[in-house]
Amino acid sequence: MSGTGKRVILSSRPVGLPTLDNFSFESFSTPPLTAGQVLVKVAHFSLDPYMRGRMDDARSYAPPIQIGSVMEAGAVGCVEASACEGLEVGDWVYGRMGWTDLAVIEGGLVQKLPISIEPKSLALGVLGMPGFTGWWGLTQHGRPKAGETLVVGAVTGPVGSMVAQLSKKLGLKTIGIAGSEEKCALAVDKFGVDHCLNHKSFNTPEALSAALEAVAPEGVDIYFENVGGKLFEAVIPRMNEHGRIPVCGMISWYNEGSMGTGALTETLSTPHLWRNILVRKLSVNGFIISDHWSNYLQFVREIEPLVESGTLKYLEDEVAGIEKAPSAFIGLLQGHNLGKLVVAV
Ligand SMILES: NC(=O)c1ccc[n+]([C@@H]2O[C@H](COP(=O)([O-])OP(=O)(O)OC[C@H]3O[C@@H](n4cnc5c(N)ncnc54)[C@H](OP(=O)(O)O)[C@@H]3O)[C@@H](O)[C@H]2O)c1
Repeated sequence: MSGTGKRVILSSRPVGLPTLDNFSFESFSTPPLTAGQVLVKVAHFSLDPYMRGRMDDARSYAPPIQIGSVMEAGAVGCVEASACEGLEVGDWVYGRMGWTDLAVIEGGLVQKLPISIEPKSLALGVLGMPGFTGWWGLTQHGRPKAGETLVVGAVTGPVGSMVAQLSKKLGLKTIGIAGSEEKCALAVDKFGVDHCLNHKSFNTPEALSAALEAVAPEGVDIYFENVGGKLFEAVIPRMNEHGRIPVCGMISWYNEGSMGTGALTETLSTPHLWRNILVRKLSVNGFIISDHWSNYLQFVREIEPLVESGTLKYLEDEVAGIEKAPSAFIGLLQGHNLGKLVVAV
């Protein structure tokens, strides 16, 4: 069985924020299946910040997407034809199928959907890679203790909202930072944070830092780093001794090529940063979640019942149609998404 699909190609490398002409659309016919392959009709694919890094021709933890290749993404879909033992027509699977509505992929590169609750797109968000990232980073590198204070940026996104809710559940004072009043209201009302600061209403790191001091005069024990930039500069001076900084992402710098122009201001020069880490005895731990997939099913077992019962909330921002994927992705890099961004194809 074969079919005709549509997919999104990286047509040129962006300089700064991507533009629509960095992407092109391609119609294609799927080749006949060879032994071990499956044909998957994609239902949803994920749009994530890390994809910006893959668009650059720069050394990272994963190779860049080549010009002329399909944009990479995790996706969920239904098997339409199978030449792979163990995968049947009608099975729902997760795999790295890309920005496409149809995929021929080796059966060994997909896994049967590990979640049983609906919608299946949750396997891309709260119960997928980003939720797993928040759970892993907080528990392994944040080492949270009841009574401590945690700060997390991009708090209404799938990583931040997982971190914030687990933090509250574990008894920490939890402060979110987000990019609008609407997002801050959601962070408080839906995700239960104690305070949320709108980073766009503070022009300087010093002003944001002062606002943070007002809501957390006791200082910060865990800064879950999602954003970098102004947030990073504001929080570092507020860290307590023996504080922990799980370094998960730094989205505010992703459009600056290979990070070359992300200069620290005078308030946080490199020596000042190192001195803070030294004298406050901070633990700074970078991590890449793909190194930890062997723990993913444990995460699903622990968190899926909380999502099913409504104890742990999620927010999904669904865009309908593959044609909208490039503009939605550009919006994500500017904070226009409200929750986990997925494309329904
Ligand atoms: N280490 C890993 O393995 C791993 C895995 C997954 C994700 N991550 C990282 O985790 C972070 C959050 O990911 P996510 O999927 O949950 O994303 P997300 O929150 O759904 O979307 C990104 C958010 O970042 C904020 N943002 C975007 N551009 C910004 C800028 N220039 N300055 C300040 N804030 C900006 C926006 O939120 P506001 O409007 O609220 O500012 C935006 O909504 C990202 O840095 C991502 O790369 C790391």
